[in-house]
Amino acid sequence: MQNIEAIIFDLDGVIVDTARFHYQAWKRLAQELGFYFSLEQNERLKGVSRMESLELLFEFGELPLPSEEEKVRLATKKNDWYRENILKMTPNDLLPGVGKFLNELKEANYKLAIGSSSKNAGTILSRIGYDKFFDAVVDGTKITNSKPDPEVFLKAAEKLGMKPEKCVVFEDAHAGIEAAKRAKMRTVGVGSKQVLFDADIVVPDLKDINKKIIDELN
Ligand code: BG6
Ligand code: MG
Repeated sequence: MQNIEAIIFDLDGVIVDTARFHYQAWKRLAQELGFYFSLEQNERLKGVSRMESLELLFEFGELPLPSEEEKVRLATKKNDWYRENILKMTPNDLLPGVGKFLNELKEANYKLAIGSSSKNAGTILSRIGYDKFFDAVVDGTKITNSKPDPEVFLKAAEKLGMKPEKCVVFEDAHAGIEAAKRAKMRTVGVGSKQVLFDADIVVPDLKDINKKIIDELN
């Protein structure tokens, strides 16, 4: 097995706690559409693009899909609610342990990238003061297929000039772990073992993490 030289981070739910803002906004939309949207159902939306998420939401609500125009209107509405929250974010909104871990990895000369399905990744990175920190950022504006498709991670590796076999992905979404595995990368699941069972290692959060975790994967 090749030694890890690059680390690719998912953004929502790994670096920042925006996964809950996504859930709040989808839940509000579901409420308007007349049904309850559970946290368990929300797991399926993690890592998935905005439009695909909307389609899944309709499936959960057992509603027929509306016209393309209506789909765009509803997805925009959800995104406006979501953006109200992310526009209030500050550098204090980095999840516990993340800033320290990222600095430690950078000092140890690992290449660092973001691999996110979100079209709002640029806004979030600016709000938290990390827009110039990563060696590569691949987000929802640069991909055609969202997770579980491996495109986002393969593009990040390519931008870093790194073979996938030398990369590890940190992810909170089941779809993200699948995408990383399909890209032939090693995986660290951040969250519950129940959801992220097929990751190489699962940690509950990045609070007490340090670079030894990378050695464990080598
Ligand atoms: C992913 C989130 O990072 O981005 C998903 O896990 C979200 O929940 C997706 O749907 C797309 O995000 P956005 O910001 O482009 O609507
Ligand atoms: Mg995520």
